Order: sequence, then C-alpha cells, then structure tokens
Amino acid sequence: MNIVILTGAGISAESGLGTFRDKGGIWSRYRIEDVATPEAHARDPAGVHAFYRMRREEAAKARPNAAHTALARLQSDRRHRVTLVTQNVDDLHEEAGARPLHMHGRLKGALCAACGHRWPAPMEMDETTPCPACGERTARPDVVWFGEMPHHLDEIDAALSEAELFAAIGTSGQVYPAAGFVEMATAYGARTVELTLEPSGAPFDERRLGPATETVPHWVTELLD
Ligand code: APR
Repeated sequence: MNIVILTGAGISAESGLGTFRDKGGIWSRYRIEDVATPEAHARDPAGVHAFYRMRREEAAKARPNAAHTALARLQSDRRHRVTLVTQNVDDLHEEAGARPLHMHGRLKGALCAACGHRWPAPMEMDETTPCPACGERTARPDVVWFGEMPHHLDEIDAALSEAELFAAIGTSGQVYPAAGFVEMATAYGARTVELTLEPSGAPFDERRLGPATETVPHWVTELLD
C-alpha cells in the first residue's frame, strides 16, 4: 500500500523535545518574529544563533522513542511504499533508521547565506562562524524560516497523488503547506488518519488520540500484521 506520513513536534515530545503550540510550548517562550524569520536573522544574528544553539544542544540529548522506531519498521517493510515527511528539524527519524523528507530543514545543518554552501553545523556555530567555502561570516541554521519555501514539495505532491493512506502524527495542523496535505490526500482518494493528543480539527476520516509512543506502534502493528 502507498502510504504518506506527516510528522510534527508531537512525535518527538516523549523524547524530551518541546512542541511549539502546546501549553508552555516554544512559541509561548519565544516570538517567531524574533528567532524564526530571515528578518530576525538579519536584525539580530546573535540572538537567532543562540536560539538554535539551545535547540541543537537539546536535540543532541534526545533519543528516538517507540513512535520513531515503529515508523522506521513500517518504512522498511517491503509490502508498503512509505513516504515519511517531517516538519521536525531533529534527526530522531534517521536515528531510528527511517528516511524522512525534512520539509523544514535540519538543526544539524548549516547554510551559508552568502554562497549557499551547506555543511554539518558545529554545535558552537554562531554569527562569527566563517563559511568553509567562501569564508564569509554568514552562517545560518539550515532550517526553513517563516516566509521561506519549504523543501521537497514536488516530491511530496507526487507521493500524495498516489497515496492510499495518509497519516498525520503529532502535528497541530496550523502551518501550511503541511496543514493542507490532508485535504490534498482526500482529493486524491486516500483514506486519512490523525494520531495526536489534541485533535487538530482538520477533516480526517479517523482519529486516534493519545501519546505517540502508544498510538503509533499499535497503528503500525495493525498495518504489518
Ligand atoms: N504524542 C502525540 N501527539 C502529541 C504529543 C504526544 N506525546 N504531545 C503533543 N502532541 C501533539 C499536540 O496535540 C499538537 O497537536 O503534537 C502537536 C504539536 O503541535 P505544534 O506544537 O504546533 O507542532 P507542529 O504541528 O509540528 O508545528 C508545525 O510550526 O512552528 C512551526 O516549523 C515549526 O515545524 C513546526 C510547525
């Protein structure tokens, strides 16, 4: 079966990484316009780098949980073709053995705002870090900020057009284009299911509420048995 899975911050919550819009979430402690836009980086590179260094340090301490492991098991099963799309910038899907498409980039990546060179982000990367290719001090986290174009949209649309099943896991469905994938999948004729703590309110055929470490392994076992 052709399956497209979209994950959000909720799948990494039980690995100790904060979500964005839950009570006490990241956007209740930081303003998007201060840390997650190109304008913020131009205005206050030190402040933006400090925010992402804190997130790199947190992510380095996190380990994949049973939900990440279950999705890796599903993606490696030959009976299904699984396109795993993540909005998350942590590497917990990879560490569990899965192969995700990172729509919003990766915390572990660095990008040169001057020449476009990409390299592994040093933990201590900041506004003084020179680009290894051009030498300019224009390093930035290789993540997609608000107002920037997400990655892999053509590949995701192609996968949705052939999907028989679409699942959204641990996402509030507040940020487009990811929030529109459920309608696209439905229009393409796929069945849709949401596995989350708080229902997003989007028009899924089925809803499984609970912690991802409980709902996702159970859901994967049903698909593999
Ligand atoms: N198990 C399952 N779901 C959970 C859990 C859990 N343990 N904890 C929280 N959730 C759910 C919440 O109910 C919520 O629906 O995860 C979702 C988290 O929503 P957000 O914090 O909005 O995160 P996300 O949907 O990934 O945000 C999308 O917004 O800020 C941008 O770029 C950022 O990629 C992010 C995007």
